[in-house]
Order: sequence, then C-alpha cells, then structure tokens
Amino acid sequence: MLFPEIFHRLERARWSLETDIPWDQFDRSKLTERHLHGIKMNAIAEWSAMPTAEMFLRDNQHDVDFSAFMSIWFFEEQKHSLTLLEYLRRFAPEFSPTEEELAAVRFEFEPAPALESLALHFCGEIRLNHWYRCASAYHTEPVIKHIYTVLANDEARHARVYYDYMRRAISRQGEDAYRAFSKIGVLMTNARLNRAMHPTNLHVNRSLYPNDTVNGRMPDPEWVEIWLNDEICFDRSWESKVEDAILMNLSSAFGESFATSHDLRRFNKKLKSPELEAAH
Ligand SMILES: [Fe+2]
Ligand SMILES: [Fe+2]
Repeated sequence: MLFPEIFHRLERARWSLETDIPWDQFDRSKLTERHLHGIKMNAIAEWSAMPTAEMFLRDNQHDVDFSAFMSIWFFEEQKHSLTLLEYLRRFAPEFSPTEEELAAVRFEFEPAPALESLALHFCGEIRLNHWYRCASAYHTEPVIKHIYTVLANDEARHARVYYDYMRRAISRQGEDAYRAFSKIGVLMTNARLNRAMHPTNLHVNRSLYPNDTVNGRMPDPEWVEIWLNDEICFDRSWESKVEDAILMNLSSAFGESFATSHDLRRFNKKLKSPELEAAH
C-alpha cells in the first residue's frame, strides 16, 4: 500500500496558512483590480476539487489505497482555495466569491475509467504547477507572489503522488495502463492550439452539455484564456516545459523515450486494442 508513505511525505511538507504566508508584507500599490479578479477565479477553480474528489471516490471503490490518498488531496486543494479566499477576505473582500459561485462548480462528473482519470489529473497537476509558477513570476505583490509559489509546490507533489499510483497501475494492469496513460498523455501534450488543456476545461457530463466544464461554470468562463495569454503570458516556452515534464515522466514510467508528443502518439497506436487481441 502506498498511502502510509505518501501520508508521511506530504505531512513533512505541510505548511501553515497562518504562519507560512507572509500576510504582513502585503503591498496594495502592486495590485490591480484585474489581478484580484484572477485570484477570485483561481479560488473558485480550486474549489472544484470537491466534485473531482467525489468522482475519484465513486470510481475507485475497488481501490482503498488510492481512495485513502483522496483524503489528503481533497484537504490540500480545499486549503488552496481557502488561502486565496483568505487573501481576498483580508485585502479585497469585494472580490470574495459568494457561496453560490463556489457551489456552481460542484456538479456531477460522469463515471470515467479510473486509469484515464488518474493520468488526466497527473497531467493537470503538472500543468497547474507551471501555471502557478508563471503567475508567481508575473505578480509583484509579495503575498500573492508567495502564495502562488507555495501552491505550485503542492501541485508538483500531487503530480508525484499520481505518478506513484500510475507506476503501481503499470505493474498490476500492464497494457491496460499503458494504453490509458499514453492516450491521455497524447491529449494533454497536444496543446499547441489550446493552451488551457487542463481537466477544468474538459466536458465531464453529457447530460449537462455544454454547461459541463468547471471553467464554463465559473462567473467569467472566458477568464482562463485571457489570464494565460494576455496577463501571466504563459507562452510557448512555458508550454514546452509542461510537455517535456509529462513526456519525461511517461518515458520513465514506460521505460521508453518520448522526445515529442508525436512519439507518444506512435507508441499509443502500436498498442493493440483489447478487442483486436481477443480476435486473434
Ligand atoms: Fe490546488
Ligand atoms: Fe493539486
């Protein structure tokens, strides 16, 4: 079971909302209304860990180890939201989301294959780690700069844990895991046309379509694209870092060498579908 070691690892990295954020260094002169709008949107996006945790627990009833990890992941993501909410409460309460705005991103995700969800969130954590690092570099207000770095580090640790569960899946489920992970890896590294390739941008419930993405249910559904392109400037060089990190991890998990998304696509195509295998 991976959970006990993961628990201690994350416990050692635990930070305090009260004492590890330099609240007294706040500098109002380095903050614009647009910055505050972005902080509000990210607070709401982090709140969407709630339906995601509900999905993971429902779709992993066969897996007590991974389900136990959900208790930590859910706690830490709610803490991320709370940290941003606390920033707004202290310094710009007029930007605090309402409970209704937070509740809007809690909706049912359709049941999904557990292996694909795992890989999707592994890639999502890597992407969010880079978005927050970029946001931290962009901001000049010291407290929010620090908060984005702290959050980015947590997202990197989450990616590492998802990766550990992916390795376990490879050892137990072999080709099914290869197939699911390479399929999602191709999807999540093919972001040249859409830099917002993150789980919050995916449709997750056909019965609610088109109102079934987290971003679409936020008060400003256009925000994330504008934030990435025109504000924090998440450019091609940042995008490459995300792709490289995903490809490097999948290379190491599979014992292969994927230099580009194309290599991964080729690998995915080579894997026979279970139907084809059964027919032989
Ligand atoms: Fe988070
Ligand atoms: Fe995370």
